[in-house]
Amino acid sequence: MKILVTGGLGFIGSHTVVELQNEGFEVVIIDDCSNSSEKVLDGIKAITGKLPLFEKIDLKEKNKVEDFFKRHDDVQGVIHFAASKAVGESVEKPLLYYENNIGTLVYLLKELAEKDTANFIFSSSCTVYGQADVMPITENAPVKPAESPYGNTKQIGEEIISETCRVTPSLKAIALRYFNPMGAHPSTEIGELPIGVPQNLVPFITQTGVGMREELSVFGDDYPTEDGTCVRDYIYVVDLAKAHVQALKRLLEGKNADSYEVFNLGTGKGSSVLEVINSFERVSGEKLNYKIVDRRAGDITEAYADTTKANQVLGWKAQYTLDEAMKSAWDWERKIRG
Ligand code: WQD
Repeated sequence: MKILVTGGLGFIGSHTVVELQNEGFEVVIIDDCSNSSEKVLDGIKAITGKLPLFEKIDLKEKNKVEDFFKRHDDVQGVIHFAASKAVGESVEKPLLYYENNIGTLVYLLKELAEKDTANFIFSSSCTVYGQADVMPITENAPVKPAESPYGNTKQIGEEIISETCRVTPSLKAIALRYFNPMGAHPSTEIGELPIGVPQNLVPFITQTGVGMREELSVFGDDYPTEDGTCVRDYIYVVDLAKAHVQALKRLLEGKNADSYEVFNLGTGKGSSVLEVINSFERVSGEKLNYKIVDRRAGDITEAYADTTKANQVLGWKAQYTLDEAMKSAWDWERKIRG
């Protein structure tokens, strides 16, 4: 059975391709390589022994998308990762984000709506909740006005999919709202490859650990949390990848309760920035060089998932601990910095 993975050379996409191949699916990747490298294909093959099909396509080119689906009319499911995802950049370049994250989604859905049956998994984010009022966060928590164009594209994307599924009997979809993905495949053949200075905490920590960065700036320790630093739900990328396969199977096997469903993907456990630093120091045996600085604009205080629905309805539960995920991130960082 052939599955299209858009953005399949990216961080979460590549790990999901591995898990799909492990489950016997044939995978075709579309990626424009704007934030990834074709070398990731070698890493995937090194893990599974199978080279996925790959086409370098910019999904903003409508005719290329149409042509792809003419040539691959046997695609049974689509997992859609391809999108721009830098919160800060989205504030500076909103139109780039609306064109790349929304325009491409519309082109994909138009092709899927033409098929006899289509199964669509959408990469969404806990960012749609903003600062939720109640912890842990369930899927019924209100979606709040987005704090960035990036977050808005996730909210709008979910609405577009939901409205399209409602009027397209042949289309079924699941939106997966990620909390904070981290880590790398245990083989160290694939992992996170941030371009330039990492925005996210974990790659900045590991780059500081290998000496690429002078020191980590901790953005504020005056939040209303136990140790004053922000709390997030850090989920191991391999756990996250397995959830995508579980969601795809749910649709392929017709187990979905509605034509459009939403699941939070987290561990259900919140960790503060200082706790993440402590995790790094435990698994690396090294002291991390960091300093406390002012808060970062736009940061929320706390977010961690209520995993009941994912556990009981999707039948998926995160298996790895923060330390295990951090160890994989550290092993990967040392591998790529040789
Ligand atoms: C985590 C915590 C920072 C860097 C973002 C996106 C979200 C999703 C995940 C895509 C925060 C602190 C960070 C640093 C720090 N991405 N931090 N020093 O902001 O929770 O979520 O990535 O879907 O949409 O918004 O993740 O890793 O940037 O920050 O102190 O150098 O680490 O303040 O508390 P975030 P993050």
